[in-house]
Amino acid sequence: MSTFTAPKGIPEYFPPESAGFLVVRDTLADAARRAGYGYIELPLFEDTTLFARGVGESTDVVTKEMYTFTDRGGRSMTLRPEGTAGVMRSVIEHGLDRGQLPVKLYYNGAFFRYERPQAGRYRQLQQVGVEAIGVDDPALDAEVIAIADEGYRRLGLSGHRIEVTSLGDNTCRPAYRAKLQEFLHGLPLDEETRRRAELNPMRVLDDKRPEVQEMVADAPLMVDHLSVAAKEHYEQVKAHLVDLGVQFVENPRLVRGLDYYTKTTFEFVHDGLGAQSGIGGGGRYDGLMAELGGQEYSGVGFGLGVDRTLLACQAEGLTVGDQARCDVYCVPMGETAKRRLVAAAGGLRAAGVRVDVAYGGKGLKGAMKAADRSGARFALVLGERDLEAGTAQLKELASGEQRAVALDSLVDEVRAAVAERR
Ligand code: HAM
Repeated sequence: MSTFTAPKGIPEYFPPESAGFLVVRDTLADAARRAGYGYIELPLFEDTTLFARGVGESTDVVTKEMYTFTDRGGRSMTLRPEGTAGVMRSVIEHGLDRGQLPVKLYYNGAFFRYERPQAGRYRQLQQVGVEAIGVDDPALDAEVIAIADEGYRRLGLSGHRIEVTSLGDNTCRPAYRAKLQEFLHGLPLDEETRRRAELNPMRVLDDKRPEVQEMVADAPLMVDHLSVAAKEHYEQVKAHLVDLGVQFVENPRLVRGLDYYTKTTFEFVHDGLGAQSGIGGGGRYDGLMAELGGQEYSGVGFGLGVDRTLLACQAEGLTVGDQARCDVYCVPMGETAKRRLVAAAGGLRAAGVRVDVAYGGKGLKGAMKAADRSGARFALVLGERDLEAGTAQLKELASGEQRAVALDSLVDEVRAAVAERR
């Protein structure tokens, strides 16, 4: 008999830890909703060309990491490696940019990259993302950064850092790129790095090897070669961040792995994670929409890694998520009691209380153990004698305190007990 395992590099979340996963995802998404972003649900796979054109032909994502397959109709399809290109396609296709601007959208879900798996680096990764399209206002860049910061903070995170820079616009970047290439040509770089310098010279600035770091220490930086407009934009983003009380550091060597960025770019970094320290990132993209066949609209957005944010919470010793499966665990002793309690469980659930039942005829001892394991605050025990008295026993598991509740008003009394503050 063969046995199966999940594909390599895919984190799975199951109880009790999955409760933390949901809280991270929902808290980050809620921060976006609070700023007026509406939910968009996108295809998990799209036309391969969309990602090749959108993300950039020279990126690692497109050249090495895409899950591409031919469907039964002979079309080349790719599992989405990121969300921005798909959002753009959908906005263009459905004319969402014909209404009020900016179009503000958020999404969450799985993305796929064939990377070498390691701690915090997965082949199926989860993101919460936002995109604000159609308005080129630095205050919007600051809003996007502040939303992420607010989401992290509401999870209780404090050890993250926000790095920002400007990658310039199409008036200043080409000249800077040529200048940087000229500088890199003069260095004794190895063959592969030389090739990278031709394709994407800014990526060389991000090379982690100490000998390369030393060589590029005096390299020209984009922030020193910004056009007047790009510089003004960047200054305003920073001013708005200060007004919003968002702390950030400037990192003029910040390089992102996707090609569409212009002007503001940023990354959220957490040092508790080892090598995979980026818990989120994003920036502005001026030319993407036009590149994909839409209007000349600029956009700005982020993608926050849910998996890595959960790891960051764990690294900070935070307990995220209620690990209890239920509030009340019903323990029926005998068939009549079972019928009453199974019915009561339905009533309690309808009233908003989380309830489980000791199914399978467990004895009292086994059932009480199961009650403890469920994380419930109360056990609701119903035995023969209780039935005769018309009551059930509501036992608070932590304190051992127990009191009788009338069967006639069971739902109301138990719901009130659950709602009471501990
Ligand atoms: P990204 O930086 O490629 O940006 O991904 C965003 C975040 O997703 C990363 O900071 C990281 O937390 C998480 N992530 C990426 N790859 C992996 C992986 N292999 N394993 C675990 N987590 C990972 C984007 O995807 C852009 N679409 C963000 C954006 C939206 N920019 C503008 N709008």
